[in-house]
Amino acid sequence: MNQTRLSCVSCARTYPLFELRYECDCLGLLEVLHEEKGLAELKSKADLRLVSREPIDRSGVWRFREAVVPLEKHEIVTQGEGGTGFHQIDSLRAWTGCQGLSIKHEGENPTGSFKDRGMTAAVTIAKKLGVKLLACASTGNTSSALSSYAARAGLQAVVFLPSGKVSLGKMAQTLGYGAHVLAVKGDFDDAMQIVRDLARAGDVYMVNSLNPFRIEGQKTIIWEILQDMNWVAPDWIVVPGGNLGNTSAFGKAIEEAFAWGWIKKKPRLATIQAAGANPFYKSYLNGFQSLESMQAETIATAIRIGNPVNFTRASRAIINTRGVVGEVTDAEILTAKGAIDRSGLGCEPASAATLAGLRQLIQSGVVKSSETVVAVLTGHMLKDTDAILKSQNLETEEVAADPKAIQLSLDRLRARN
Ligand code: F0G
Repeated sequence: MNQTRLSCVSCARTYPLFELRYECDCLGLLEVLHEEKGLAELKSKADLRLVSREPIDRSGVWRFREAVVPLEKHEIVTQGEGGTGFHQIDSLRAWTGCQGLSIKHEGENPTGSFKDRGMTAAVTIAKKLGVKLLACASTGNTSSALSSYAARAGLQAVVFLPSGKVSLGKMAQTLGYGAHVLAVKGDFDDAMQIVRDLARAGDVYMVNSLNPFRIEGQKTIIWEILQDMNWVAPDWIVVPGGNLGNTSAFGKAIEEAFAWGWIKKKPRLATIQAAGANPFYKSYLNGFQSLESMQAETIATAIRIGNPVNFTRASRAIINTRGVVGEVTDAEILTAKGAIDRSGLGCEPASAATLAGLRQLIQSGVVKSSETVVAVLTGHMLKDTDAILKSQNLETEEVAADPKAIQLSLDRLRARN
């Protein structure tokens, strides 16, 4: 029998894996504690699955299924998430000053963000548990992913979004897949509290990253990066931080990969926050002794979060990987976004915090330019088109539908080079 269980990160008490609960009786966060038997071999099994034609083998999440959630194949709700691009781009190596830079673009997931990796796991479990109504608070990407995966599983979803603070693309996507949208007069942190209360009362099944299965799905970003690098770990992995689900998931993925012998050294984590939404950064400066929540404000609406719920797990991830936490201003985020967009990759503003932060870490000497670094871009460029047009003052050129006018315009364009 499989012994995988839920375990409290604060008091280590354990619970059955498929018990409907998000927190320990002591109110600590829960995580999935895997049975170690056989997981050393999963590395080579996952490599073999790269050439399989089966949807769950092709999924970058379920390729690692034995160490995500042990389930029967038919129980899995997948849309081919993961398998995202791993890019080496000269212009971005020059811009950051990091010669060993690679980029993992999680915006290449089915709904355009890394959230699909966590959501395939959470919705699969919701279906298995037989729950009727799924819910999340969101700045727009979690809600898009939930809406899509719930539709795929034939389940109802309700999402709580901070009114007026979600990009139009994300709002449309969430509505389009069919979730019921409640626009909360307040910010993300208020919406999160509402969902936590509803979940505690048993009214909804919560799929925010407090849900331990979300973390299990998101771990596979790291494992896929390691696989992309033929299991030679990079020196650093850089990621933006908001609610800190990813930072927590990355820490767990690194610990497990190391414990199971998949890698010989642990990469260091660097989490980057927006300066206007930086409670984790401030806590890092005081040695993670406490977390002070704040009123958050940043152009990167995806990470406009002042009270990250995954603080305990995330601080442990930074400590255990000898990691660092950085902060970047909105101006730095937009400059980085310009460089990423012009490289041909493109990303949404929150993702650009990654490269803005890396550039700083190189300049301050924390990261050496010769070290190998993987920067994770979390969301697709089309998630926030307003930010592109506003930040770069881009406009189309109006032209008459007349060959002479068009020739004149093309001549001007040629003369530019
Ligand atoms: N990048 C993007 C594009 C995001 O959408 C988020 C979080 C983050 C980074 C931060 O990740 O919370 O794991 O530290 N978006 C959530 C949402 C809050 O509702 O879509 P984190």
